[in-house]
Amino acid sequence: MASLGEDLLGTVNKLQDLVFNTIGSDSGLDLPQIVVVGSQSSGKSSVLENIVGRDFLPRGSGIVTRRPLVLQLINIPTNPENGEKKDAAERESEGQQQEFGEFLHQLGRRYYDFSEIRREIEAETARIAGSNKGINRSPINLKIYSPHVLSLTLVDLPGLTKIPIGDQPTDIEKQTRNLILEYIAKPNSIILAVSPANQDLVNSEALKLARQVDAQGKRTIGVLTKLDLMDHGTNALEILSGRVYPLKLGFIGVVNRSQQDIQGNKSLGEALKAEADFFRYHPAYRNMAHRCGTQFLAKSLNQILMQHIRERLPDIKARLNTLMGQTEQELMSYGDMHFNGKEHRGPLILQLMTRFASSFIASIDGTSSDIST
Ligand code: GDP
Ligand code: NA
Ligand code: MG
Repeated sequence: MASLGEDLLGTVNKLQDLVFNTIGSDSGLDLPQIVVVGSQSSGKSSVLENIVGRDFLPRGSGIVTRRPLVLQLINIPTNPENGEKKDAAERESEGQQQEFGEFLHQLGRRYYDFSEIRREIEAETARIAGSNKGINRSPINLKIYSPHVLSLTLVDLPGLTKIPIGDQPTDIEKQTRNLILEYIAKPNSIILAVSPANQDLVNSEALKLARQVDAQGKRTIGVLTKLDLMDHGTNALEILSGRVYPLKLGFIGVVNRSQQDIQGNKSLGEALKAEADFFRYHPAYRNMAHRCGTQFLAKSLNQILMQHIRERLPDIKARLNTLMGQTEQELMSYGDMHFNGKEHRGPLILQLMTRFASSFIASIDGTSSDIST
């Protein structure tokens, strides 16, 4: 997520570290996961890849995503020992090298080459879901460690297909539907409902599914792909300005790479630039270009995340306060004289943690007013 501000990254990652290290990962910090839904080939994987800012997902015109991909982005600090004496280009390439992926099914193996990640997703998909067209509900878990991401979970899912093909069972549609519903029913899921602009929105499977679990359209973002493929003389202005379908978070139009772009190895950077130009010079969209495209989508997700975190802050603070109270009591029960020696390192750590938690609460109090916009 290249466009996320460093301040937000810093604050959220500190908060996550603190909560994970003190209260545990099931603490109810409950950061949102972003789940991408839509029909087959609507552009889900393309959108997700654009959000992450790296090329690593299998994409194509056929049925490519056949198992859920649960993608955890994990922020790691840059190595402070490097950097200072190097120039910007060296730091940049080092930053790239620091980024790596690791699969749950291959713990300990680090992938620094993102095209190898793609090949492994393909191989692992075929291993469990077969080499034909079947889908399988068991997820592929991939973690990407990087100094440039916000710690966050993204989920790519198989798309809905109406008519079974290849070795797909006759109830493939129902199977896929249930699989998708399982992921988007979670209240902390932000649903990216992907609909291709070259098809009638009334038929959008993504919106039908989203409505089942988010009837009021509070946590669904409409993403309209393939604006470049609309019939000449038609446009999606009505949809994008929210006059066709009600979603509180609105619709955002994007242009992803075409199959031809992918075959021609068009880079993500080039694609983003072409997308920006598409909106800037399009007679129908140029007046709303600042509210269109992948960058704006990433920015909007950023704002939704901030809002979500703000809503959780009082709860997190209450939990930390309880923890501090407990820790203090525990410390008092040890008394003063036990603080020497290795075997009593536990209480000392508790004490340090308490101090850290209280100063952190103070800093949250400071930040929460900053992130109100
Ligand atoms: P998924 O099946 O929903 O994950 O869709 P993919 O991301 O794999 O995309 C399916 C196909 O549509 C690929 O060939 C993409 O290159 C193409 N595609 C996706 N989005 C767009 C778009 O905005 N414009 C164009 N021209 N092609 C797109
Ligand atoms: Na596809
Ligand atoms: Mg896909």
